[in-house]
Amino acid sequence: MRKPFIAGNWKMHKTINEATDYGELFVQKLKDEQVDFSKVDVALFVPYIHMSALKVIFLLRGIDVGAQNMFYEEKGAFTGEISPTMLSDLGIERVIIGHSERRKYFGETSAACAKKLNAAYTHDIKPVLCVGEDLKDREAGRHKDAVRTMLLESFEGIHAEEAEFAAVAYEPLWAIGTGKTATPEQAEEMTALIRSVLAEKYGSAVADNIIIQYGGSVNEENIAELMAKEDIDGALVGGASLDAAKFAKIVAFDDSVRKDSLKQVSVKNILKK
Ligand code: PGA
Repeated sequence: MRKPFIAGNWKMHKTINEATDYGELFVQKLKDEQVDFSKVDVALFVPYIHMSALKVIFLLRGIDVGAQNMFYEEKGAFTGEISPTMLSDLGIERVIIGHSERRKYFGETSAACAKKLNAAYTHDIKPVLCVGEDLKDREAGRHKDAVRTMLLESFEGIHAEEAEFAAVAYEPLWAIGTGKTATPEQAEEMTALIRSVLAEKYGSAVADNIIIQYGGSVNEENIAELMAKEDIDGALVGGASLDAAKFAKIVAFDDSVRKDSLKQVSVKNILKK
């Protein structure tokens, strides 16, 4: 059974004081919302310089701190980069790989993502690989091909056990930071496609275990209908994760709709055995 995974991506926001104030408030808000951590995994992907302080605030609170990017080499003359060794040395257990903003502004390729996925696995840092089509591809009806290609290139040379260790976030570029969310049906169509591409490559036993998130203008109002979809296992939240109270509400989404889809998944798995 796949455990829901709700993550925030702060991107390049907040000073250290704002980050620590948020951290304390977020712990309180999750308590107020009575979040049950046995039912949901929670992570915040923050700028590197805030990771240590937030690790201390979140210690034993059930909230993981993750990095928004990393390089794949262990060390060397790579000015400005952060290595997987440095992250695991800090106790960081999660990293985003191939976010569309990294691909767009910093030229990150799917081939580099494959190296990063491998490095993350080697260092026991759980990756979230981001894939998603742009508006041009969507309007031309090429969105499925675009995502399939991105996915296969990013998982090139990645073994099943490494793939199973990863999560995938489907983030259509036209929905990121635009306030225009994909409809639950569009999101489900694409997350189901991602699972089927992974099943072709790794077999359905592996693909059924991989967490697939949706990302793109997720907020406290649309989270429940997205999470009700069978192949959507979580969300990667940008803008709405910058506000501790709002993000706590997203984490505390009403999972009663979800329960049915979890039941369906487990029944499906039982039938397969
Ligand atoms: P958004 O960003 O929620 O602000 O659309 C999502 C993301 O880029 O991960």
